[in-house]
Amino acid sequence: MAGSGREEEEAWASGLPPEGSASGSARIALYPGSFDPVTLGHLDIIERATRIFDRVVVAVLQSATKTSLFTAAERMSLLEASTQDMSQVAVTSFDGLTVDCARNVGASTIVRGLRAVSDFEGEFQMALMNRRLAPEIHTVFLMTSLANVFVSSSMVRDVCRHGGDISGLAPAPSILALQKKLRP
Ligand code: PNS
Repeated sequence: MAGSGREEEEAWASGLPPEGSASGSARIALYPGSFDPVTLGHLDIIERATRIFDRVVVAVLQSATKTSLFTAAERMSLLEASTQDMSQVAVTSFDGLTVDCARNVGASTIVRGLRAVSDFEGEFQMALMNRRLAPEIHTVFLMTSLANVFVSSSMVRDVCRHGGDISGLAPAPSILALQKKLRP
């Protein structure tokens, strides 16, 4: 892991890399996504990424073009609550290009999760586009566990909206927030 100390912890807690990270030896990965809201599938990928990288920055896309159930601030706070026991993880938000966000946080790698073959084509296109934009940044795909292969934020939202059981699909903070928003 990269250096220690309170300053560094505070920098990470704010979602920013400590000064010098980009040029240091810490292996930093960016995990970008909508996280609307974070599911157990996302946490599975985050947990796996922490075993490979020194630091994992989870970046929430703010995007004004995409309609989301939760605001970017809500999605960030659900991620923060769900990853509070993972000291290597920081949460931030971004607008614009993922590769710019990766550069800003000093990440040399973008992590994306793959569930089924159906994910591959879109992910492959995105990875190639990101490589064209930033050849120095690599994309790595991590596979979720079998239990999470069918879990997606949209599916969890839909099941919750129609009164179905979403336990075991999303972490407790997401479940509570979904129930509050969709089943007031
Ligand atoms: O969780 P999602 O919705 O699958 O995440 C998609 C995301 C945020 C990774 C993707 O939409 C993205 O990278 N958006 C930022 C814009 C960008 O960089 N576009 C060029 C790469 S396709």
